[in-house]
Amino acid sequence: MSELNLILLGPPGSGKGTQGERLQEDFHLPYYATGDILRAAVQDGTELGVTAKRFMDDGGLVPDEVIIGVIAARIEGPDSADGFILDGFPRTIGQAEALAEEMAKLGRSLTAVVLIETDDDEVQRRLGGRRTCAKNGHIFHVDFDPPKNEDVCDVCGARLVVRDDDKPAVIAKRLETYHAQTEPLVDFYEEKGLLKRVDGSLSPDDVGDRIRALLATLRLEEEL
Ligand code: AP5
Repeated sequence: MSELNLILLGPPGSGKGTQGERLQEDFHLPYYATGDILRAAVQDGTELGVTAKRFMDDGGLVPDEVIIGVIAARIEGPDSADGFILDGFPRTIGQAEALAEEMAKLGRSLTAVVLIETDDDEVQRRLGGRRTCAKNGHIFHVDFDPPKNEDVCDVCGARLVVRDDDKPAVIAKRLETYHAQTEPLVDFYEEKGLLKRVDGSLSPDDVGDRIRALLATLRLEEEL
């Protein structure tokens, strides 16, 4: 494949971050997770962070005009010349249209949109047990992917934390937001022939294998 411009789509807790980290290692491409970018801005107390926090705490979405510029700047940068992996963007039809415009402006196109399909009950189970490394962002789960030592990151030894928006009431609101504002992207990208579905109920390794297999198939198709 000449370049790999990939979107990871799916409900909260479907495993986008888990798979994004693996894909980044496999393909050595920049990985832009809007949730991570926004949480870093909140922590740094920037103007972006102050604006974003109000929406994130309630399980809603940051306004399109705030987030679109953040991603456009990264896609235009030299790091993204061979491709990129987007996690958490686009999340509305408006964002998807803005991304299409940006790609057209750069004379580039999306390779695929990988939808990690996961039902709402599974999302509740996963987000309720998620633990994230405060230093490097590596993701664990108390039952499905536990750290060797409780609340300590296997990778760097830093403390594991519970995300502010992983409280039950906020999880329910995030799911509502996903169904109302982000799920329409499934039809949007299906109509463009870009959507690839992966069963997100499988283990993290199996989900990763399925994504790698579908990307290998795309590569073969391109060579034919
Ligand atoms: P964001 O951080 O993107 O949150 P999200 O989309 O809700 O996704 P998550 O990070 O919660 O889940 P994930 O799919 O990455 O799952 P993970 O791999 O961690 O966004 C946060 C907020 O920022 C939004 O609510 C919004 O306010 C704002 N925002 C972000 N982008 C925006 C945008 N474009 N526009 C406007 N606002 C925006 O896995 C979850 C857990 O499950 C982990 O514990 C993991 O270990 C476990 N797990 C993963 N895979 C499996 C598996 N296969 N089997 C069992 N367990 C698994």
